[in-house]
Amino acid sequence: MDWGMQNRMNRIFKPQDGRTVMLAVDHGYFLGPISRMEEPGKTIEPLIPYADSLMITRGVLRNCVETKYDIPIVLRVSGGNSIIGKDLSNEGITVSMQDALRLNVCAVALSIYVGTDHEHQTLINLANFINEAENYGIPVLAVTAVGRELEKRDAKYLSLSCRIAAELGAHMVKTYYCEDFEKVVKSCPVPIVIAGGPKLKSEFDVLEMAYNAVSCGAKGVDMGRNIWQSHWPVPMISAIRHIVHEKFTAKKAFNLFQYLKHKRK
Ligand code: R5P
Repeated sequence: MDWGMQNRMNRIFKPQDGRTVMLAVDHGYFLGPISRMEEPGKTIEPLIPYADSLMITRGVLRNCVETKYDIPIVLRVSGGNSIIGKDLSNEGITVSMQDALRLNVCAVALSIYVGTDHEHQTLINLANFINEAENYGIPVLAVTAVGRELEKRDAKYLSLSCRIAAELGAHMVKTYYCEDFEKVVKSCPVPIVIAGGPKLKSEFDVLEMAYNAVSCGAKGVDMGRNIWQSHWPVPMISAIRHIVHEKFTAKKAFNLFQYLKHKRK
């Protein structure tokens, strides 16, 4: 890997353990102002000190995040769909490489929708963007399908999606945790991070999922709603950090969460 590309990867995946806590706040690109993300700046700012990188759209980055922060930016460059539209998988490229560079990004992210009517289109989007990003040493994060595609949340489907993304040249892949997750990790030759998905019933469930994922070989999380839709987002991201970087078990991390939560009351 070229120096620039490797250096950017090292800014995201911390060299001491090769892991990352990526904070996902890009949801508005198809979900609009969802709960707790009505005013993105207010939600994002207190969490920045606990995140290794920020996954975000250019509109929210430019308008809601101050330039003073030294946090690697993973810029979402695909979209063109909405939660009320006909088909969530019908995505195109929404940001030019030139604008991504202007924003001083550390990586770019785009979604692929394997097994849908737009499989070919989104895979070609990925391949084309990688071709361009390679010219500038910018890593590309492939995001495996969300929305209705989540019904296919099993190792067979997710292995297929992740492997195809890696074969096309993605430098890292974001997917969902599932049963037999180690199979997904083993068959994907680039680092995998997990999304949190819609908010789970309890904070413990989230911590358990994060713990199970890293135990199976995930290189961390790229998590959103289960952090910032919690009533206690800072204790939540702190607990996640301890699982990812400090080898905490889910139980130990939950105790930390409870402690930090009570301290803030
Ligand atoms: C969804 O398309 C976005 O890319 C989110 O970044 C992703 O789903 C991760 O966020 P969450 O943990 O809320 O699922």
